[in-house]
Amino acid sequence: MTEPDQRPTTTDAGIPVASDEYSLSVGPDGPLLLQDHYLIEQMANFNRERIPERQPHAKGGGAFGTFEVTHDVSEFTRAAVFQPGTTTEVLSRFSTVAGERGSPDTWRDPRGFSLKFYTSEGNFDMVGNNTPVFFIRDPMKFQHFIRSQKRRSDNNLRDHDMQWDFWTAVPESAHQVAWLMGDRGIPRTWRHMNGYSSHTYSWINAAGEQSWVKYHFKTDQGIECFTQDEADQMASADTDYHQRDLFEHIRDGDHPSWTLHMQIMPFEDAKTYRINPFDLTKVWPHADYPLHEVGRLTLNRNVTDYHTEIEQASFEPNNSVAGTGLSPDKMLLARGFSYSDAHRARLGVNYRQIPVNRPKSPVNSYSKDGLMRMDNVTDPVYAPNSYGGPAADPSLTDDGGRWRSDGEMVRAAYTLRPEDDDWTQAGTLVREVMDEAARGRLVDNVVGHLLNGVSEPVLARAFDYWTQIDADLGAKIQQGVRDKADEKDPKADEQGNDARSSMQDKA
Ligand code: NDP
Ligand code: HEM
Repeated sequence: MTEPDQRPTTTDAGIPVASDEYSLSVGPDGPLLLQDHYLIEQMANFNRERIPERQPHAKGGGAFGTFEVTHDVSEFTRAAVFQPGTTTEVLSRFSTVAGERGSPDTWRDPRGFSLKFYTSEGNFDMVGNNTPVFFIRDPMKFQHFIRSQKRRSDNNLRDHDMQWDFWTAVPESAHQVAWLMGDRGIPRTWRHMNGYSSHTYSWINAAGEQSWVKYHFKTDQGIECFTQDEADQMASADTDYHQRDLFEHIRDGDHPSWTLHMQIMPFEDAKTYRINPFDLTKVWPHADYPLHEVGRLTLNRNVTDYHTEIEQASFEPNNSVAGTGLSPDKMLLARGFSYSDAHRARLGVNYRQIPVNRPKSPVNSYSKDGLMRMDNVTDPVYAPNSYGGPAADPSLTDDGGRWRSDGEMVRAAYTLRPEDDDWTQAGTLVREVMDEAARGRLVDNVVGHLLNGVSEPVLARAFDYWTQIDADLGAKIQQGVRDKADEKDPKADEQGNDARSSMQDKA
């Protein structure tokens, strides 16, 4: 039994309060009094406890840990965080994309894999996913994509017809959708999944030489996944299964870890590589660019206040330190703006002063004032000045990397390279990485998904989409959907009824 706490309850102003149980009234049965400021404080604070949830990636959890460099990659980057022997404190957050804050952890969805490294040169954030690719390659489509995966405006329901309508109208989604519908679309736990930058980034060494890189955090626990049935059962048995699993393992001293490997492409290769190396819907095959081991991420400390340390955490791809940088990936460049904008909207302009977001290195910025400013600002408040304020030192930054670019202003797709297309890598995944049993589960997952409310003409487009990925797979999916729809309603085909109405009857 916990010892009685000797500390008196106080208001938020530190003034001891008279009661934890009773409001101030005129006699025991009389009306309440306006001067019960403690009651008012309790009600008012309660009414303001919820802050806006993240638009995508609302449901998640995380922990603190360390990143230790075990291999020398100084020939590629001068970043302090990647120098041999360096250990850096890290905050992690894992999430689903489409669900709201209370949604089940085991829905089929990509998982976010966010890391904030509190480096000696400022915060370095890696905001990746558990998949090496993404659904789209131009940021103009991102908002539309996310809306299609969330809820309809009329009945506020999620809608597979809307999801497949978007995916099949945007064939560049094929690689990511094939990945998502496969085994890895539902990790068993956050500990049993990999994390990928997905995007191509830059590394810059001490001589100023730049490489293109992709980050791969490979789980040391091994990959484990849930089948659709296991995940469905877990969604009702324990909505917060992934969160609980991580918390309990760290609490019990079983600290999960990931080994960071990099794919590294020489700067000049990007100009002539057979696929566009900045296209987020593609991987770089390992045979072309093998993995270089760098170090180990270990999560070893649970948060003590979910709200201040996870809900108010702000991860942003634009946080890149000297020796690291972005790339000409249009998605990444847009993300460079979007996240800090989201944090300003969700947490306020001074969100970097919330303790979990504060760098552990000195901050000497010229930002001033604004809502919830915590740090005192000292004069001079402008630059350049003659009174001793901080002065920019270009030698301490690589300014996010460099590349050369010139041309007309256009709205256009990337220029196609000889082997750029939407289907080949998805087909490779299905034919060469998955075995027969995994392909069988993929077919079942897609058939189950399509039968859950997808109507013509989207259904026909979905069959064509899978046929483009792999002809045999497409035929099996079409057959599977038609057979199951007929089982339910043998006249469905004759009457032109679609699988959607059949499943709606079932529901
Ligand atoms: P490799 O044979 O060298 O690598 C295959 C990759 O697939 C491994 O990274 C493996 O991850 C991963 N993998 C294994 N099973 C699955 C699955 N069911 N779902 C998703 N990924 C899985 O081949 P290539 O590099 O030539 O790539 C072939 C295909 O593999 C790609 O088209 C892509 O779909 C997929 N892939 C490629 C990655 C890359 O960066 N090259 C990364 C992840 C997937 P692990 O080693 O952790 O088991
Ligand atoms: C969260 C935008 C693509 C991974 C978010 C948020 C926004 C956003 C606005 C909410 C941020 C917050 O409120 O804290 C975008 C845009 C994209 C894009 C505009 C493309 C143009 C991607 C890609 C990945 C990704 C490609 C992975 C490779 C994540 C993760 C989070 C997130 C992991 C959760 C961050 C956290 O844990 O707090 N995104 N996103 N996003 N996004 Fe993206």
